[in-house]
Amino acid sequence: MADKAAINGLLRALVDHTRSHFQREELLLKKSGYANLDEHMALHQEMTEKLVALQQRYEQSSDPELGDDALEFLCTWFDEHVLEVDRRYKKTDICTS
Ligand SMILES: [Fe+2]
Ligand SMILES: [Fe+2]
Repeated sequence: MADKAAINGLLRALVDHTRSHFQREELLLKKSGYANLDEHMALHQEMTEKLVALQQRYEQSSDPELGDDALEFLCTWFDEHVLEVDRRYKKTDICTS
C-alpha cells in the first residue's frame, strides 16, 4: 500500500502545478485578447476547486478510493479540457508566439 505522506505530497504538488499552469495559461490568453477568457477561467476555477477538495479529503481520511478519484480528475483534465476546451484557442496568438 502506498505511503499516505507520499500521496499527500503528490496531491499537494499536483494542486500547485495545476494552479501555476492555469495562471500562466490565463495570462497568455489575456495577452492574446482571447474572447472566451471568462468562460475558460471559470472552468479552470471549477477544476482547481475539485482538485483541492479531493486533496483535502484524502489528507483527512486517506480513503484509498480517492486514488481513483485523482486518476479520474487527471483523465477528465486531459480528455475534456486539454483535448477539447484548450484546443478552442488553437488559432489565437497564444499558440504562435
Ligand atoms: Fe491548459
Ligand atoms: Fe485551459
